[in-house]
Amino acid sequence: MRGKLITLEGGEGVGKSTNLSYLEQLLRAAGHELVVTREPGGTPLAEQIRALLLQRSEEPLDELAELLLVFAARAQHLQQIIRPALARGCWVLCDRFTDATYAYQAGGRQLDRNHIALLEQLVHGDLQPDLTILLDAPVSVGAARVARRGERDRFEREADAFFERVRATYLQRAAAAPARFRVIDAAQPLDAVQQQLRTAVMAWLEACA
Ligand code: TMP
Repeated sequence: MRGKLITLEGGEGVGKSTNLSYLEQLLRAAGHELVVTREPGGTPLAEQIRALLLQRSEEPLDELAELLLVFAARAQHLQQIIRPALARGCWVLCDRFTDATYAYQAGGRQLDRNHIALLEQLVHGDLQPDLTILLDAPVSVGAARVARRGERDRFEREADAFFERVRATYLQRAAAAPARFRVIDAAQPLDAVQQQLRTAVMAWLEACA
């Protein structure tokens, strides 16, 4: 039986790294063989594409080039890691996936979402996440956490209006697909976030057992 694909999404500074580890613990404790990976990235070549996407350079990265690079990395990642793992029955926990492209490239950059839908269809029309956890927090909360981290990458330097569009797009997608999404209030103290996460994941695991 094909393994499950679980994705973790959210804007900047919502606590994705900490909660990815927690989610990993929950899934491993439930006895599932698990591959933990991320996008953009997840293979040596896709990680090189990630570096291109995140680095700041004198030559501005064209928005369409950015979109194609995101999907180039995804195609490589799917082929090398995600599809083989799922095919052998392994579960995959992925830090960001195509919902991030809708949020950042359609929401943030305001590219045509139909172009993203076309690329999605081409690259993984047959494969969608089984569960998506969205960590949601007001942009001001995330921005304050990013500011404390110091050096900011190419995305983290975008204006608040960009991240407001990212957040709104994520929330719209979650509202449009409630069976797949669980929205977690990431503005709460970490204990409360993890309790909400645990409740949501346990209920989902029970339902798919
Ligand atoms: P991360 O550092 O949060 O893992 O993600 C790297 C950045 O890449 C983050 O700012 C969001 C951005 N990104 C996109 O713009 N589109 C995408 O499809 C993905 C997966 C990430």
